[in-house]
Amino acid sequence: MTTRVVVVTGAARGLGATIAAKFHAAGYRVALADLALDAAREVAASLSPDGSTAFAVPLDVTSKVDFECALQTVAARWGQVHALINNAGASKVVPVMEITGEQFDQVINVNLKSALFGCQVFGQYFADRGEGRIVNIASLAGQNGGSATGAHYAAAKGGTLTLTKVFARDLAAKGVTVNAISPGPLDLPIVHESVPADKLDKVIAGIPVGRLGNAEYVADVAILLASGQAYFANGACWDVNGGLYMR
Ligand SMILES: NC(=O)c1ccc[n+]([C@@H]2O[C@H](COP(=O)([O-])OP(=O)(O)OC[C@H]3O[C@@H](n4cnc5c(N)ncnc54)[C@H](O)[C@@H]3O)[C@@H](O)[C@H]2O)c1
Repeated sequence: MTTRVVVVTGAARGLGATIAAKFHAAGYRVALADLALDAAREVAASLSPDGSTAFAVPLDVTSKVDFECALQTVAARWGQVHALINNAGASKVVPVMEITGEQFDQVINVNLKSALFGCQVFGQYFADRGEGRIVNIASLAGQNGGSATGAHYAAAKGGTLTLTKVFARDLAAKGVTVNAISPGPLDLPIVHESVPADKLDKVIAGIPVGRLGNAEYVADVAILLASGQAYFANGACWDVNGGLYMR
């Protein structure tokens, strides 16, 4: 059986590093793509010290050329790619009335244009091969407007959910599926770094299940959606939010 190959963006830390590790444990070869190349290299080396089953690739997700280069690098090394996890994202909280045009563009570029470029570059490659899986990491903020993340971030993640449907429809007949996962607040470093402890207690108290989400479980959902058998899951948004948002 062919060993499946996945590219995970933003894999140097947080959810991306967890997704990379879980795919690796599931038997995938994993390319860890990130701006923070040294940190991505460290995570890759912890998974595969000799680089045979995991390695780091430089990628700024705001650049289409970078996506093209990353795809070429991984395909040259392992012959093929089966799945892309568009995970990289970033935000800085700014009150909505104070967001500047520059800040808006920057957050849209990292969180939304990245999904456009990833789906365009890998989507075309997968369509030419007749198979492929793309999973976009969106956010609860993109569904309910968010609370602690900023309007530009929420708008970008809402856009990611819409792009997921557009690409899913466009690529379906070519054997390519595109889905999104929409997590609520996860028990990850960025949440503890950006939300003061007393405020975090209130956030947790407001989550129906009474706990932050588990990144490993989100990674398991990504693995499920990336499987070769997952052809009938397409254009969906998989909510993992502890009951904060139900529909
Ligand atoms: N942490 C949560 O609770 C949560 C909830 C919902 C959605 N998400 C989403 O999950 C994803 C990962 O979040 P996280 O908590 O791990 O964040 P994080 O900030 O801990 O990690 C983000 C990673 O993306 C990388 N990155 C940032 N800008 C990049 C760029 N331009 N090009 C390439 N890489 C870049 C960073 O270097 C870092 O490794 C994001 O899309 C985020 O919006 C997170």
